[in-house]
Formats: sequence, structure tokens, C-alpha cells
Amino acid sequence: MFDSAPAPAFRLPTALTVARIDEENYRTKTIVLNGALEATPGQFVMAWLPRFDEKPFSLVDNDPITLMVTAVGPFSRLVHALEPGDRLWLRGPFGQGFAVPHGQARLAVVGGGYGVAPLLWLARSLARTGRTVTTIIGARTANDLLYAERFAALARFRPPHATAYDLIAATEDGSRGVQGRVTDALLSLLEAGAIDGIYACGPDPMLSALRELGQRYAIPCQLSWEAYMRCAIGICGACEHEGKVLCLDGPVVRD
Ligand SMILES: Cc1cc2nc3c(=O)[nH]c(=O)nc-3n(C[C@H](O)[C@H](O)[C@H](O)COP(=O)(O)OP(=O)(O)OC[C@H]3O[C@@H](n4cnc5c(N)ncnc54)[C@H](O)[C@@H]3O)c2cc1C
Ligand code: FES
Repeated sequence: MFDSAPAPAFRLPTALTVARIDEENYRTKTIVLNGALEATPGQFVMAWLPRFDEKPFSLVDNDPITLMVTAVGPFSRLVHALEPGDRLWLRGPFGQGFAVPHGQARLAVVGGGYGVAPLLWLARSLARTGRTVTTIIGARTANDLLYAERFAALARFRPPHATAYDLIAATEDGSRGVQGRVTDALLSLLEAGAIDGIYACGPDPMLSALRELGQRYAIPCQLSWEAYMRCAIGICGACEHEGKVLCLDGPVVRD
């Protein structure tokens, strides 16, 4: 916990100091910042490096503010070059996060690739409400699987009030957990009638497949879609997706 009260929001880019950096895999780091923010799981912040660029990142946690950054291009590589004590500027939080459902007791929390970023906080929060939570995380190989140990720790030290918390890891090459995709693992649970709500974040094809499964089994979904964000306040239109302005109406969309 950060030792001062969480800020309600950063309306303008606000400089925060990097407190700690954890290496997650060959291209992903978790960056813990010296600050706390009022937010809910699934909301995002805009991270700014002056004179360079500004990009959206899911909040891994709000207190202290924590981001997971996968180095894939110019901005994320520059963020990877930060060291403890360096500054990163943030605006936010923005968008609609995941909502706690009424009448859904057995929830699947599904993440692919860096889409797991907001799900650890979400799984912890849902489990605390007494729901049965099954987290399914997937990637191509064991090396690409993110936060597996953090989710496994959540399964070992079950949050207070959680009735049950399970973790299923799925890799396409079978190098860790079950072989296949997260949708294969979810399908067996849906066929067994073991799930009545689906929460997910990950690549668009994974989300489309989950939405299709949700429709087939008549299970409500809350899916966090990714779009190119610029203003993050509903003005520029850069984040339009299926008729929704995702920085305001998303990134989590309910089906
Ligand atoms: C709401 C929202 C939340 C996000 N949360 C996170 C997050 O928690 N962690 C995170 O790392 N990124 C997250 N992103 C993506 C992030 O904003 C940037 O797009 C990413 O850091 C790449 O920026 P770049 O300038 O380094 O590379 P770019 O030049 O923008 O991208 C380089 C190439 O990599 C592709 N690409 C972009 N991201 C990835 C990826 N993660 N894996 C594989 N290929 C990719 C792009 O399509 C492009 O082809 C989020 C995006 C949105 C919209
Ligand atoms: S990012 Fe500008 S409208 Fe959403």
C-alpha cells in the first residue's frame, strides 16, 4: 500500500517515480510507481514520456499504481529503459472497468498474452465477494505465459471469503499447463455447466471467440477490447470499435 491517500484522478499528466521493476519474461516488465489512484479493475491510464509519445496501459493495481509493459515497439521499449528513480507521467484512470455481477456465482476470468494485466486485481476482487473464480491464462509457450506465478500464489493463499479459486494455464505448444487455447479450457467448463459469467482481456480474436461461446451457452460476458487511444476522453474518435467509443464506453464492454 502507498502511504498517502489514493488520488481521485490525474487530469493532466502527473509525474510519478518508478519504485520497483520486476522482470516477468524476455519482453515483459512490471513497473511499480510511487503513487496510488482511485480506480477499478479494467480501467486504464495514459502513460506519457515527454517529447515522445503517450500510450494506454491497463492498471495491474491501483495502490501502488502498477503497470505491466510488454516491449513490442518504440514506446514500450523506452518504458523498458526506465530504472528505479526515473519518472513516468500518467493521466487517468479512464474508461469503464469490470463490474461485479448480480446473481452470477461461478465466474471465469480469462486472459491471453498481456491481456492478463488487469485480471490479477479483478480475480482477487471477485474472489473477495464470495464468488467461485476460475482464472484461465493462455499464451503460445510457457515463456510467453504472464503472471502464472502470481495467479498461482492467489490460488494458494485464497482470499478471505472466496469459496473457491482455481487456476488453469493453457499453452498452444503444451510447454506449461494444458495444451491448447484458453477457449478450449473454457469450453470444457461451459459444457460441464460450471460457469455463469465470463470476464476477459486479450487479443481481439480471442475475445471474439469468447463472445461466440458466451452467446452459444447464453452466458453473459464482460470483455475488455483494445483500440488505438489518443485523447482518452471521447474527443478524437481514434478508439471507435463496433460503434462504441472505447475510451469512454469501454474498454470493458458487456455482452
Ligand atoms: C486499453 C488498453 C490497455 C493496454 N494495456 C496494456 C498493458 O497492460 N500492457 C502492454 O504492454 N500494452 C498495453 N496496451 C498496448 C499499449 O498501449 C501499446 O500499444 C504497446 O505498448 C505498444 O506501443 P509501442 O509504441 O511500443 O509499439 P507500436 O509501434 O504501437 O506497436 C508495435 C507493433 O506491435 C504490435 N503490438 C502492440 N502491442 C503488442 C503486444 N502487447 N504484444 C504483441 N504485439 C503488440 C502492434 O500492433 C504493432 O504492430 C494497451 C492498449 C490499450 C488500448
Ligand atoms: S481515444 Fe479519443 S475518442 Fe477515444
